[in-house]
Amino acid sequence: MNVLVLVGSTRPDSFNAQLAAAAVAALPEGTTVERFDRLNELPFYSDEGDANPPAVVADLRAAVGRAEALVVVTPEFNASVPAALKNAIDWASRPYDDSSINGKPAAVLAATPTPGDAGSARDHLVAILRRARALPLETTVGVSAAHEAFVSGELTDPTHATAVEALIANLVSEGVPA
Ligand SMILES: Cc1cc2nc3c(=O)[nH]c(=O)nc-3n(C[C@H](O)[C@H](O)[C@H](O)COP(=O)(O)O)c2cc1C
Repeated sequence: MNVLVLVGSTRPDSFNAQLAAAAVAALPEGTTVERFDRLNELPFYSDEGDANPPAVVADLRAAVGRAEALVVVTPEFNASVPAALKNAIDWASRPYDDSSINGKPAAVLAATPTPGDAGSARDHLVAILRRARALPLETTVGVSAAHEAFVSGELTDPTHATAVEALIANLVSEGVPA
């Protein structure tokens, strides 16, 4: 099984990158994991770029197309997802008749250092993925107080760790080719 990981933060020491690592660690042995970490190189979506996309857009679409399932991990920025992540999903959702993201199961996770659980960003991400015709799982995982939840990059809190494992098990069962 091929899994593509998208993380909506490129910040060094990103809590969401640490959460993505916890999700990847929960994938079964033998899973091929790819990570597209060039969100900041993508130009803003323009329909002029659809027919003859810049190389970085073509690379994103190809990576999404190769994946049987997606792990999408987002910070919460002003109650939503960062623009760079939304932009990547916009690119992957077009051309409409041949979109790479169409039909891809997706696990949604978010981490924030605040006491909130980034629920607004998770809800927005689920809605965006649905409209893009991906198949986000009903359940999502939010990690609050991320500066305490991760110790040396490890998600130590057992409740969150168990939730991540359950989410990824669900994703794998959705993403296994028939
Ligand atoms: C522009 C901006 C807006 C933010 N808005 C929110 C917010 O609405 N809710 C929240 O929980 N955290 C908010 N934060 C704090 C982020 O959750 C925090 O910076 C987080 O560490 C970013 O994720 P990262 O660690 O993966 O880079 C905001 C941060 C920035 C830079």
